[in-house]
Amino acid sequence: MKTLKEYILEAEKNKVAIGHFNISDIAGLKGIFESAKVLNLPIIIGASEGEAGFIGYKQIGALIKSLREQYNYPIFLNADHTKSLEKIKEAVEAGFDAVLFDAGKLSFEENIKKTKEVVEYVKSVNPNILVEAELGYLGSGSVILKEISKDVSIKADDLTKPEEAKLFVQETGVDLLAPAVGNIHGMFKNVPNPNLDINRIKEIRQSAGIPLVLHGGSGIKDEDFTSAIEAGVSIIHINTEIRLAWRQGLEKGLKENPEEVTPYKILPCAIDAIKEVVEKRLKLFSKINQ
Ligand code: G3H
Ligand code: ZN
Repeated sequence: MKTLKEYILEAEKNKVAIGHFNISDIAGLKGIFESAKVLNLPIIIGASEGEAGFIGYKQIGALIKSLREQYNYPIFLNADHTKSLEKIKEAVEAGFDAVLFDAGKLSFEENIKKTKEVVEYVKSVNPNILVEAELGYLGSGSVILKEISKDVSIKADDLTKPEEAKLFVQETGVDLLAPAVGNIHGMFKNVPNPNLDINRIKEIRQSAGIPLVLHGGSGIKDEDFTSAIEAGVSIIHINTEIRLAWRQGLEKGLKENPEEVTPYKILPCAIDAIKEVVEKRLKLFSKINQ
């Protein structure tokens, strides 16, 4: 099987993106894995500090490894939005394939300093584990938004600057970069998220010289995704859409089975709702006719 890095380079070459979907439980994992398998696409499972803490770092590491081995399938695990070296160590020890060190809220200099420490540690343990960093602030949660928080980098002046991206990559040695290009974490219920700055993506990709990761995928318009991939995005993160599908599916399952108490008879509705979201997104990211 190819390494995660090889899959990312292949995606970039083919002008497609790998889907990265977050989970909090086995229903999420089943929904995502089943959709990926049907389409035969590599997949990245994300677990933030909260999500991995809920499942258990070692437990989620073992789950993903067991699927990869049993099905000989390219399913990878990323420690999403990890804010301390201590938690990065927990993820590395649990066998994660990639880590995102999230110091996007810190100053440029502090972000470089802390990210560098993380890269040095991770690479000293296993040079194949990929390290991603965030440059710019995208907001804190995968939630249904009522408004965009004031500290989120959304105005043209606050977006990641190509020269800074270049310097950041040179100084830290990260493998992947998550820039602020108009994307935000979370989604609005009835309106799409703000437009992406496609030109900025292109400029950042050129000056950074490494693959880009687009965060905050929920709520982004289809045509923005397509242009972002064309401009240099190789991985796309989706979480809120999965969480919303999970909740709506669960509500449906409970409503349809008012007397039922067996979780595995109720949760398939949540799994089906998640599958629908993931399949749609994966087809778009991989240019598979919908
Ligand atoms: O790292 C997770 C993603 O960036 C998810 O963002 O909840 O807006 O899809 P989202
Ligand atoms: Zn994110």
